[in-house]
Amino acid sequence: MNITIIGTGFVGVVSAAVYASHGHTVTGLDIDSSKIAQLNQGKVPFYEPGLSELINQHLAKNLNFTTEYAEAIPSNELIIIAVGTPSASDGTADLTYVKAAAKSLAPHLAENSIVAIKSTVPPGTLDHLQPIIAKHTSARFTLASLPEFLREGKAVNDSLEPDRVVIGANNQETIDRLTKLHQPFNAPIIVVSPDSAQMGKYTANAYLATRITFINQIADLCDKNGADIDQVIQVISPDHRIGPHYWYPGFGYGGSCFPKDVKELAAYAKQTGLDHNLLVELNRLNEERIPKLLRRFSEQIDGWDDKQVAVLGLAFKPHTNDMREAPSIKTIEYLLNEGAIVTGYDPEALKTAQTALPSHDKLTFSKSINEAVTQADVVLALIEWPQIVEFDFTQTKLNKPQWFIDARNQFNASELREAGYEYLGIGK
Ligand code: UGA
Repeated sequence: MNITIIGTGFVGVVSAAVYASHGHTVTGLDIDSSKIAQLNQGKVPFYEPGLSELINQHLAKNLNFTTEYAEAIPSNELIIIAVGTPSASDGTADLTYVKAAAKSLAPHLAENSIVAIKSTVPPGTLDHLQPIIAKHTSARFTLASLPEFLREGKAVNDSLEPDRVVIGANNQETIDRLTKLHQPFNAPIIVVSPDSAQMGKYTANAYLATRITFINQIADLCDKNGADIDQVIQVISPDHRIGPHYWYPGFGYGGSCFPKDVKELAAYAKQTGLDHNLLVELNRLNEERIPKLLRRFSEQIDGWDDKQVAVLGLAFKPHTNDMREAPSIKTIEYLLNEGAIVTGYDPEALKTAQTALPSHDKLTFSKSINEAVTQADVVLALIEWPQIVEFDFTQTKLNKPQWFIDARNQFNASELREAGYEYLGIGK
């Protein structure tokens, strides 16, 4: 199939590479010419394991990138919109970029093409897009929803071997063509209405965010008694209705999806009259989590003022350099406000950190864990990067008593205590 993907952000670039790897001819389109120039040289503008290898395997063969709609659309049967949907000021999804893409692609559409939306959008969006496209073309086209479920840091694998492919469409011919396209993905293909596909995408993210918030609250309860959250998770996981995944407590969920999608679904629920919805509360609990934890740790370490703190892990999670809604941002801002002296370490996100974090005379960065921790009063292991989890902190020469805050419960508390650290975990 000849496919165009509009938007070369994270989802767009990964999808382009993955459809190309299945033998389709793919054109990635973006209005940002510098991004397109980079991609045409095989350079991916963000860090994602395995992605640049995949792009380079197909570039100039069955994958190319352009800024021109006139070049990207006319001979293609499937046009996928994968542009950003930032939150508007009332929390709802801002569809400006999706609508602009629909308007721009319309005059170039070939007869009988499919326009599919991969961007996360609320139910009802296709009804808004239909007249926008129809106004600017005489070609016959159908609309569909193709929501995406890949995770950053694992995107290539998630897309090559997805848990499921969701096709939201009402037209049988469109369903048949999209089903045929996705059959080689070797995953269950779920065909539903466009509205159900879009609700399904929000529901998956909101449920996972709920699960994280729930286990964080249980961890807070464990802190009040003798229970250990890791042992509690061992107790609940074998139950098939509950399962072992996505139960890791920490500093709350971050990234470009969960915080935004929970807020959007909460705002959408409010719009429909559901004022008192769980999602509003979920968002509030996640937002207050970091200051609440840091206040609690402050009591345990006798205040943050003048403490040297090594913050290990600046990206929002391992295997990415993305710092959107990263716990490190709120954490470091809080610590600096409280008078701490902070050194940040991350294996991939140090460059992103220069712009994502405020410039401050008490904030420096280090390329080495060892260097970041030797002078610290407090080691704050924020993100479970393998480089951090596998680092042997028991071999670090302690110049003074140090606290070790294990924000993702990844370390052996007794080993660290034996090595001289004052260990503080979450829910332990
Ligand atoms: C998430 C979803 O997992 C994907 O399925 C979805 O496609 C994507 O959003 C999206 O909508 O585009 P992602 O944001 O890349 O993917 O990251 P996750 O691995 O889901 O982690 C999100 C946040 O939850 C991170 O801050 C992570 O540290 C936190 N988390 C995750 C926990 O605190 N505990 C856990 O057990 C798991």
